[in-house]
Amino acid sequence: METVTKSTLTNNSATDFLPLHGTDYVEFYVGNAKQAAHFYKTAFGFQSLAYAGPETGVKDKVSYVIRQHKLTFVLTTPLQSDNSIADHIYKHGDGVKVLALQVDDAKSAWEETTKRGGKSYMEPTILKDTDGELVLSGIHTYGETVHNFVERKNYKGLFMPGFRAWKSDYNPTDTGLLYVDHCVGNVGWNQMNPWVKFYEEVMGFRNILSFDDNDISTEYSALMSKVMSNGNGFVKFPINEPAEGKKKSQVEEYLDFYNGEGVQHVAIATHDIVKTVTELQKRGIEFLNIPDSYYATVLDRVGKIDEDLAPLQKLGVLIDRDEEGYLLQIFSKPLEDRPTLFFEIIQRKGAKSFGKGNFKALFEALERDQDARGNL
Ligand code: FE2
Repeated sequence: METVTKSTLTNNSATDFLPLHGTDYVEFYVGNAKQAAHFYKTAFGFQSLAYAGPETGVKDKVSYVIRQHKLTFVLTTPLQSDNSIADHIYKHGDGVKVLALQVDDAKSAWEETTKRGGKSYMEPTILKDTDGELVLSGIHTYGETVHNFVERKNYKGLFMPGFRAWKSDYNPTDTGLLYVDHCVGNVGWNQMNPWVKFYEEVMGFRNILSFDDNDISTEYSALMSKVMSNGNGFVKFPINEPAEGKKKSQVEEYLDFYNGEGVQHVAIATHDIVKTVTELQKRGIEFLNIPDSYYATVLDRVGKIDEDLAPLQKLGVLIDRDEEGYLLQIFSKPLEDRPTLFFEIIQRKGAKSFGKGNFKALFEALERDQDARGNL
């Protein structure tokens, strides 16, 4: 059953104990950040922004910060084997470690969430340099993933104290990626509701949409999902758990290969999905293949859209409509050899939902790849 509670998406900061300005950055722990940075710049059109490593006084790791519009990624790799970043990569492969959220008051964010049961990852810490001071704190969420709270109102530097500008002569053109639309977590069997409760109680989020295994099932496999949103709707975290089907759920495949719970996909907004995806495909990013039969009937389901269907079909862009408008979305293949993290590119034209009408076509496409890996 899909349930929409529109009234919860109001900007009621007076009662919101954790007001959020949106995603500040996403940090990935990766095996080779130098190469990952080159990949994200080349394939996705990010620009070099900042760097921290031995040259800036950091001895155990290197981080590259890249940016495109409001989308900031941090790519971090360990320099030694005996540290927690190396352990993380050994266990999970490359993946998302930090979903950082921008706040006005990182001390209050930490206090309000930890007193409601959040487990501290980092106590409020003031970082200073000549550009001012930045306050950072953090709590744990599902798996080994964490939420950092970033207060940058008294900081005018590029990224964070400890980082220096990363100037590069290699500056591929951007691909129109704008900001994080939502980030989806995969959690274990029967763990969706406990994590829904965590986002409600610890972070003050609301459950705005729910999908059960009747909504999200194919002939073979199933999952369940609940979408959590903060008060102003700037931050949305759908939470998936596997459901029983004839064959193995895609969420279970993720859990097997990520070795636990973690971020399944980051959805990134664009104003022109045809332009963005054309560019990404040209640069080698692969997306799930959608059969032509999907396009034979899609307009009967979604009605009139502004775009021509032919380019959408050529690229494999999916279309869905809700009562507020429609959306265009496409899903990349996993960005690692492990079938774990992937990206969604999404263009919203009024719709605030997540493409429920595409679940079947999408999951069948996913299962074809899952089957090819021998994991279905
Ligand atoms: Fe999504």
